[in-house]
Amino acid sequence: MMYNLLIQMPVPKDIPLPLPMPEWILVVILIFSFLLHILFINLMMGGSILTFWYELKGIKEKKYDTFALEIAKTVTVNKSLAVVLGVAPLLSINVLYTIYFYSANALTGNMWISIVPWVAAAFLIVYLHKYTWDKLSSNKALHLSILAIGVLSFLLIPFIFLTNINLMLFPEEWGNVKGFTEALTLPNVFPRYFHFITASLAITGLFLAVYFGRKGFRNEGVVNEIGKPVIVRNMLNIVFAATLLQFIIGPLLFITLPGKGVSWGLFWVILAGVAVAVFILIILWKYLGQAEFITGKIVNKLIIAFTVLFICMGTGRHIYRENALKTHKQMMAERTKMHWEMVAKAHEGLLIPEEIKAELSPGEQLFQNNCAVCHAATTRLVGPSMAEASQIYQNDIEGLKSWIKKPGRKRMDYPAMTGFPQLSNEQLNDIATFVVNKEWGN
Ligand code: HEC
Repeated sequence: MMYNLLIQMPVPKDIPLPLPMPEWILVVILIFSFLLHILFINLMMGGSILTFWYELKGIKEKKYDTFALEIAKTVTVNKSLAVVLGVAPLLSINVLYTIYFYSANALTGNMWISIVPWVAAAFLIVYLHKYTWDKLSSNKALHLSILAIGVLSFLLIPFIFLTNINLMLFPEEWGNVKGFTEALTLPNVFPRYFHFITASLAITGLFLAVYFGRKGFRNEGVVNEIGKPVIVRNMLNIVFAATLLQFIIGPLLFITLPGKGVSWGLFWVILAGVAVAVFILIILWKYLGQAEFITGKIVNKLIIAFTVLFICMGTGRHIYRENALKTHKQMMAERTKMHWEMVAKAHEGLLIPEEIKAELSPGEQLFQNNCAVCHAATTRLVGPSMAEASQIYQNDIEGLKSWIKKPGRKRMDYPAMTGFPQLSNEQLNDIATFVVNKEWGN
């Protein structure tokens, strides 16, 4: 099993750069900023689908047309929030999963990069649709076609995204996948996508129930002709139907998930989510069964329940990713270590002949191997002369060590010095002591 994996699976060496902050902080930022981002993506998607549905319905019954416009107004706002909130998770995933993310990007190439024009086009289209509502009121076919393009783009963009993010989890497939269409053949892509779309509808239903049910909402056409209770009931029906549907799609997703990322931890987190979903169905069932109802309380309960559900699913998603990449991460760490050992060996053997090496102190050896290509004793090479440079640190070994590890930027007439994060503290000590104690001349 392990050997099969090895043959097919490219194991790149990692880029030995220190993270800008402790890894766990980045992970927390990733999970929560992603959930916030996806919340608004859900509202944007669900909102655009429902706008389409009610505008269509509005052709026969005018009141639904007014209602559709009210939903459309939320879509453009939610879309903007979704984009702004997408920056943090995108940056964190870049930092945390650099090699996985970029490998998947490269493999889905054109399709992946097409997200940029698609997003730009989709946004312009939804604005066009919103602002031509009155102008095109006599040409609904055209107006709805514009929206249809918007909705289809909204459906396509997350599909590309999801396929890419999914491919990232399966390095053992990278050797076989030659493009976007092949990335689609992974067994869980479609269930995962439908799980997401259905969730969008459930969450949007709840959002719109709160949005239209609130005291401040006073659009007369909508309030007088449809009535708030009817709207709230309709929206909660959507929540109910979508949540129920997840009981088919969810298990389908779970059984098509490649086994390597499934663990008991994941199982329990998902089970907790399922329990919450059952709770949601039960309270909705009771509530929607009543002829008359008061909104406030149930909506609060639903918001809390959905928040918990959302966090469960987000955490589960992260657990799965970590499990799925565990082996590969280990292999990569080993590969990286091996690489640096080879680099060190190559330097030792190549740069200093054995007979001379025996006479050099460890600090001088390291200097010859790592620094001498750029620094000479008294003349300028790529870097300043050591006579000049060592002067600065005469009484500051620690300062010199941290410069070598991670140089700053000082002289404008020189390029930047490359850092040496791979040197151990002891090696840094040796070099620094050597540099400071040596008589470099003038
Ligand atoms: C790739 C070329 C290169 C290598 C390799 C290199 N340096 Fe440098 N070094 C530079 C350059 C260029 C500067 C000037 C950078 C600046 O001023 O921004 C510099 C500056 C310095 C300075 C002056 C720092 C200061 O505070 O002004 C010291 C000391 C130094 N290097 C030591 C080392 C040591 C020790 C090593 C080996 C571990 C090393 N360098 C390896 C290019 C290099």
